[in-house]
Amino acid sequence: MENTFKKKVIIVSNREPYTMKKGRLSKTVGGLVSALDPLMRSNNGVWISTGSASDVEKSGARASVPPGDGAYSMRRVAISPGDVEGYYNGYSNRFLWPLCHMTLDRVHHLRSYWRSYVKVNGLLAGAVLEEGAHDSIIWLQDYHLALCAAEIRSRSPGALISLFWHIPWPPHAVFRICPQRKELLRGLLANDLLGFQLESFKVNFMRCVEKELGALVDMEGGAVHLDGRTTYLKSFPISVDFASFENAAASGEAAVFLKRFLRARNLEGLFIALSVNRLDYTKGMIKCLEVIEVFFSKYARYRGRVSFVQVAVPTRKVEPFLSYRDRVRRKVEAINLKFSIGSWKPVEYLETDLTHTELAALYRHAGLAIISSVYDGMNLVAKEYISSQCDLTGSLLISEFAGAAEEIPGVTMINPYDTESCADELRAAIEKEPGRKRAAMEEARAYVKKHDVYRWVRKIFREMDQITDGRLSFEASGKNKLTVE
Ligand code: UDP
Ligand code: G6P
Repeated sequence: MENTFKKKVIIVSNREPYTMKKGRLSKTVGGLVSALDPLMRSNNGVWISTGSASDVEKSGARASVPPGDGAYSMRRVAISPGDVEGYYNGYSNRFLWPLCHMTLDRVHHLRSYWRSYVKVNGLLAGAVLEEGAHDSIIWLQDYHLALCAAEIRSRSPGALISLFWHIPWPPHAVFRICPQRKELLRGLLANDLLGFQLESFKVNFMRCVEKELGALVDMEGGAVHLDGRTTYLKSFPISVDFASFENAAASGEAAVFLKRFLRARNLEGLFIALSVNRLDYTKGMIKCLEVIEVFFSKYARYRGRVSFVQVAVPTRKVEPFLSYRDRVRRKVEAINLKFSIGSWKPVEYLETDLTHTELAALYRHAGLAIISSVYDGMNLVAKEYISSQCDLTGSLLISEFAGAAEEIPGVTMINPYDTESCADELRAAIEKEPGRKRAAMEEARAYVKKHDVYRWVRKIFREMDQITDGRLSFEASGKNKLTVE
């Protein structure tokens, strides 16, 4: 790849970019890895993540990836079972996740969670320092790593550090629940650049800083000045690899999968409404099932003609995710019991993790996709559905509480709390005239095609370049996807 940064790029995320499966390293599925893997390949950088102590012992702390090519290094920092519980299950997922998604009755806090969170952030920062923080561009990913930058900076003051916060940032009225609010804000302000999905999340963060730390906040300029340092803040809505989904959807492999899938599940000839989520309460899956129930009650003529396919990916196998999964399963069973006729079922439920080609096949075929999140930073599934809709025959119903709804034209916004209106929107989408569907989908696709994940990466690096007065030394040439605009 012709495009290089003179500085080494160090990415840090909780999840690793390649996972050991049956003795082989395979690429972790997800937009972030798709976007950053080519950047890392061209840069010979290091991707640091956590790994359970037993896994790291078994497969080693370092690997050259991609396997067989060895373009960059993956480094896993071993964490003990106690710290997996405290830092990952505890502080990250039982405290920060529900807090930032404003599901306050699920917020659970223990002081031991915080101690583990501090410890693991310190371990990750230590690994960054060993890799050479001073000469690198350090890019931290997400809410697991709020304290990392401060730890790095305390030992390497001149380091260039940025963090992207992938989930919502709540308003101060909610954030003030956090017993460690000042420590978290100070930790984050040790970054040079903080990225958020939406402008409103950035503004929420700045107001929290103003109220909690009394720092000098420049709302218009997107900057916070504290203790002689400046942190820049900006929104960069994340996206997907449009071309990769479009190609996958049109591939022979997708066609073979789809044919088998529809036949095996008795779905041939039916109109498919699709939903794809991790089994996470923020995705509003129960609400969506309630919409399906109302739809089949109110519009009985669609029984036997429409099926709702729910792909539910197992995730975070701890409470309250497990009880939520059980509620979803029970609701599916109840609806199927109530409406099934012969071999037709209203809900086809798959508790599994599909590959991107399999997903693209379903996205292309489904006449409708429903995103029912009660709160969501962005929602990549929405953008993947649009990217895969090469026949322009589908429609997207998207919760107004998902970040993607604010951005994409040509989609239908729904309020997942208003079950009856959602059921009516579902019917309207099914009955929509094909020409109008095509026009709306064309508009949505043009937007996602232009605003793909590569543009997201470019914008963030361009911003880092600007705040360091062009010291990053991009060498951009040729037509590759990472060329700086
Ligand atoms: N996904 C997947 N296989 C599945 C279902 C989902 O690989 O069977 C991926 C999906 O392609 C998307 C991601 O999981 O890239 C979900 O991202 P999203 O932003 O929608 O929600 P998140 O899980 O990050 O909250
Ligand atoms: C969200 C978070 C990511 C996280 C992903 C899957 O998208 O923003 O940081 O990786 O969910 O969750 P998991 O806990 O399985 O990594």
